[in-house]
Formats: sequence, C-alpha cells, structure tokens
Amino acid sequence: MRPTRAIIHLDAITHNLAMIRQMAPNSQIMAVVKADAYSHGIVQVAEHLSQADCFAVACIEEAIQLREGGISQPIVLLEGYFEAEELALIDRYDLQTVIHSQYQIDWLLASKLSGSLTVWLKFDSQMNRLGFNPENFTAALKQLESSDQVSEIKLMTHFACADDIASYKTEQQNKQFVDLTADMTVEKTAANSAAILAWPETHYDWVRPGIMLYGCSPLLTRHGAQHQLKPAMTLESQVIAIKQVKKGETAGYGAHWVAAQDTRLAVVAIGYGDGYPRHAENGTPVWINGREVPLAGRVSMDMIAVDIGLDSQDEVGDRVVLWGEELPVEVVAQSANTIPYTLLCGVTSRVKLIWQES
Ligand SMILES: Cc1ncc(COP(=O)(O)O)c(C=O)c1O
Repeated sequence: MRPTRAIIHLDAITHNLAMIRQMAPNSQIMAVVKADAYSHGIVQVAEHLSQADCFAVACIEEAIQLREGGISQPIVLLEGYFEAEELALIDRYDLQTVIHSQYQIDWLLASKLSGSLTVWLKFDSQMNRLGFNPENFTAALKQLESSDQVSEIKLMTHFACADDIASYKTEQQNKQFVDLTADMTVEKTAANSAAILAWPETHYDWVRPGIMLYGCSPLLTRHGAQHQLKPAMTLESQVIAIKQVKKGETAGYGAHWVAAQDTRLAVVAIGYGDGYPRHAENGTPVWINGREVPLAGRVSMDMIAVDIGLDSQDEVGDRVVLWGEELPVEVVAQSANTIPYTLLCGVTSRVKLIWQES
C-alpha cells in the first residue's frame, strides 16, 4: 500500500483548544471546522472537541455532516444560506446562521419555519467582504428584531489584517464595530486566531479560532510552537527509490534541478496529487532521519526527490515528514510562497487520514 498518510493528533487539537481558553478566558469558543476541519476530518475533530461551545462551518453541507455525525453543540453557518430552500434545513437541523445581505433577510421573512432562529448579523467594518455597512446595518437589525422567525440576534464582524501586528486596520475596524454596537447588550464576536493572539480587546463574548486549533500560528513569520500550540497534522510518506547522480546531472520534470556535486537523491511517494505544493522551490526543507534535506527538482503528481547527500545512510522504506512536529508547516509554506492554510486545506482525499488519540 502507498505509504502516504496524514496522522491527525487529536490530543494536540484538545491541547490547542485549552490554550485558546487560557488566552481568551472570558469568551466562549466557536471552533471553526469548515473545509473538513482544515483537512483534519470534520466529524472526528468535532467529536473530539467536546469542550468547544459551538462549531462554525462555511455551508449547510458541512453542518449536516456534523449533525449526521452525531454532533449536538450549536453550529453556525458563517456565510448563511445561499438559497431560500436551505432555511427549511436550517430549521430541521437546528442550526444558527450568519446574515450578511438583504436578500437573506427577505428570504427569511418570506419563509415559514417551525421554530425561530438564532442569527448572527454581520457588520462589514470595511473588510469589504461580507456584511452590512454602517448605512444599512440598523435597518437590517430592525427587520430582524420585528420578525417572529428570529428568537435571538447576535452580532459579528471579521478582520482583514489581524495577522499583521504592525497594521492599524484592526484597531480601525474594531472601533467601527464598537461605535456601532456599544450600547447593544447582545452577544458579539470578532476575533479569528490572529486576533485571539494579537488583539485581546477584540475577544468579546465569542472567539472564532480556526488555524490555531490545528497548531499553526496565524501571525506572519511565527510558528505555532512560539504560542505553545502543537501541530495537529503530520504529513508523511516513505523513500521509494535512491539515485546516485553525478555533478551536472539533472533531476525531475523540466530538468529544473542540476547537481552541484556528486550526490544521492531519495525519491519520496508524495506529490501535488496529494496536496504537496507544486510551486515549492528547490531547497524547500523535507525531514528525514532526524535532519532537514532540500527538495531537488519539480514536484511531480505522485513523487518528489530530495538531495540526501553523498555520504547519507538513508534507505528505501525510511520515513519522510513533509510537515508536522519535526518540520513546521509554516516553514514549508514560506518556501512554497504560500500560507499554512492552503497547505493544510489542500491535502487531497487520496491521503489516508489516521486519527490518533495520543
Ligand atoms: C468568518 C470567519 N471567522 C473565523 C475564521 C477562522 O480564521 P482562522 O483560521 O484565521 O482562525 C474564518 C476563517 O477563514 C472565517 O472566515
């Protein structure tokens, strides 16, 4: 069997949740498990996060997966509903929903639900993505307040630059949110992982961690371990061939790598078909037998090669770690000119997930 797999360390996720509790002691935690829990397995992660106060997902399909997987905590749809017909499912599966646009209010007011909903009214504090702006926020709020389809209204906003501690944008966005909502005694949420770490004044009633749960730092140039977080995924494979190459020989598609001296290459069973980034540069670190070695040549669909050096003792069958405790995904992301989010979310269904308690 192909040895390419992702070990999911459930105890690391529980540890990370506990760290978040310490960082935001007065807030409830809405654990963000969209995109298959950033590829860690949505139901398995949620089952393990019995201490989370609530879960957040991007769409109704993900919420139904959680409910049918036996998850009973509240679930919030972060983008609300995309079609009016989803309201019946929101009702049936007992979900909470974000409301970011007038068309969603129109559909809600026109619907006939068996019960009434908890809604999160989203304020766009000039990220200019989802939410009502200051001019139409109050009118939206009034419409929801006067509807008997709505049992509770909570407020939310989202930050554009919380990962950049040098940026003024988060303070500006937060001030807008405070100015608009200060005299409203309803529950509020603003903070993603970066704001949990860097902007404690934005914690409010609920925080919404995603990437931190999986052990990564959301802050530019930091690693999860620097915040006492533990990586939840180890992406690993094995050496399937060893090649002797002479100085000047090339390796891989496009002959993109040229041997600077005589050396040995190890061919590893992982490629972009598994989610390893195609644009990773020559030199991107890969872990084998206790050390980091450089990627050599273009990433193929199913394989990579690494330069293990002329005197290396590595053999076919040796374990190779692409990211995990041995090698932070943040480091690999930097070499591939991307962010850890895309690497985690990009792990494909061909990679076997193996959930471990410890
Ligand atoms: C609205 C919202 N809140 C929270 C999060 C979690 O963000 P992070 O993974 O940076 O903590 C996301 C993720 O994209 C989001 O879209």
